[in-house]
Amino acid sequence: MSNIAFQGIEAVTLATTTEAARSALIGILQNAFSGELAAAYAYRGHWKSLRKPSEREKVRSIENDEWIHRENVRQILNQLKASPRRGREVRAWLIGRSLGIGCHLIGWFLPMYFAGRLESRNIAEYETAVQHARTLGLAEYLDELRVMADVERDHEAFFREMVATHRLLPVFRSIFKWG
Ligand SMILES: [Fe+2]
Ligand SMILES: [Fe+2]
Repeated sequence: MSNIAFQGIEAVTLATTTEAARSALIGILQNAFSGELAAAYAYRGHWKSLRKPSEREKVRSIENDEWIHRENVRQILNQLKASPRRGREVRAWLIGRSLGIGCHLIGWFLPMYFAGRLESRNIAEYETAVQHARTLGLAEYLDELRVMADVERDHEAFFREMVATHRLLPVFRSIFKWG
């Protein structure tokens, strides 16, 4: 194959890779943006349902982190000239509010367990976003996305520690594969 033809194929491949990475990154961020809304409202109900002051305070600060993440993600989406998806926003609002109310009704363990499991997914989500941003050469977003992954890691560690010695953990771990 001639050099020129080869370069042509390379350029097309690069354009395809770039386009795929860009739409993947936007998809992840749209998901994350709405996910943070659901998480923040769920945590609001969660910390209000807790009795122990140290637990209330930590989950309240986690709620605050999720609002910060949402704002960060909003800014990155803006810079990528993409918008949140309305359907996801409505769904996230409903889920977050329902979970927030649910936390008052279903006891201590379930909200702690499923929060931790959710956080483990959030870490992966931001780490994948880092990979796509790197592919796209968007160096300016890398640090922020990495920091958000680290904060989610810290959240997960807290919930893991909370449920670590709970008698229901082995059963839930075997069914839901976390903990
Ligand atoms: Fe978050
Ligand atoms: Fe989180």
